Amino acid sequence: MGLCTAAKKFSRRGKYVVLIGLLLSVLAWIATFSGETDKTISFNFDPTLTLVRQDKLRDKLNSWTRAPGHWNLSTEKDECPKESPLLVGASKLSFESSLNLKDVESKNKGVAKGAYEPADCKARQSVAILIPHRNREKHLLYLLHHLHPFLQRQQLHYAIYVIHQAGDAIFNRAKLLNVGYLEAIKDFSWECFILHDVDLVPENDRNLYICDQQPKHLVVGRNVTGYKLRYKGYFGGVTAMTKDQFLKVNGFSNNYWGWGGEDDDLRVRVELQKMTIVRPPADVARYTMVFHKRDSGNQINKNRMRLLGQTTKMWRNDGLNSCSYKIVSVERMPLYVNITVDIGQPQS
Ligand code: BGC
Repeated sequence: MGLCTAAKKFSRRGKYVVLIGLLLSVLAWIATFSGETDKTISFNFDPTLTLVRQDKLRDKLNSWTRAPGHWNLSTEKDECPKESPLLVGASKLSFESSLNLKDVESKNKGVAKGAYEPADCKARQSVAILIPHRNREKHLLYLLHHLHPFLQRQQLHYAIYVIHQAGDAIFNRAKLLNVGYLEAIKDFSWECFILHDVDLVPENDRNLYICDQQPKHLVVGRNVTGYKLRYKGYFGGVTAMTKDQFLKVNGFSNNYWGWGGEDDDLRVRVELQKMTIVRPPADVARYTMVFHKRDSGNQINKNRMRLLGQTTKMWRNDGLNSCSYKIVSVERMPLYVNITVDIGQPQS
């Protein structure tokens, strides 16, 4: 009996010890966790899990890209050479009014559903080209006409995504690029993202569409501005950022409706992360801008200076992690993936 009571007491004490042990580990865990969020806020979130509304049709359409063997990347091909032997340097661009999509498709037989990879070597980078778009069909055609052979000469594994803003609300280039990023990473683990205006055509294929250690600005000069950098901090037109760089800055702000400011905001985000913008040499980073009048639906954003003043305090909560949208359709066209999206309208 005495022994029995002692054993009972011991097991009761044992339970307390276990309970206290558990409590201490929970407290230790909470302390560690809160310490980390204070320190870093480094956007280790996985946007595919948290942000994006899935649609079933999309999953079906995607299944082909994930099917083994669609992209031959895992096979035993040698890596493509550091400098592609196919580069031609500066080339004369043509903008024939008679050009049509069928012509461009027939000249790019190696491209399927917007994607391409070199047949005889393993590309050094996998690159997603993101092009925000609305009502600029002719510009898109000219760009596709030049960009596909240009990227193939650079021996890249790439896909072109056109992100088309549905409806008549004022245009929002930055939010469309966030959507493009979030949708493209569902297809493939792209390492590099090229954020590309639809009306800028690169003139020299030595302007490499690959990412660097630092965010890269590819438009040093354009024909319409005498091939001069617009201003020291200019970061618009065409930029290249790795997945990590883009995640680190939380992508673009979603709040720039209308023309201007969103690219300056991205530059501020980059600087806040102590990254430095790099540029290729001026004689290479040259673009032709296809002429156009200011689009209706893309008026100058009068709020842009006010918004820019708030970037430092807003960037953590305004970007990829707050980008809400509704996919209207995803069409796998021969030369590009056409994503039509409802991104809403400015909150007044
Ligand atoms: C705007 C930018 C634009 C740049 C060059 C700036 O004033 O804020 O968005 O890219 O001008 O046109």
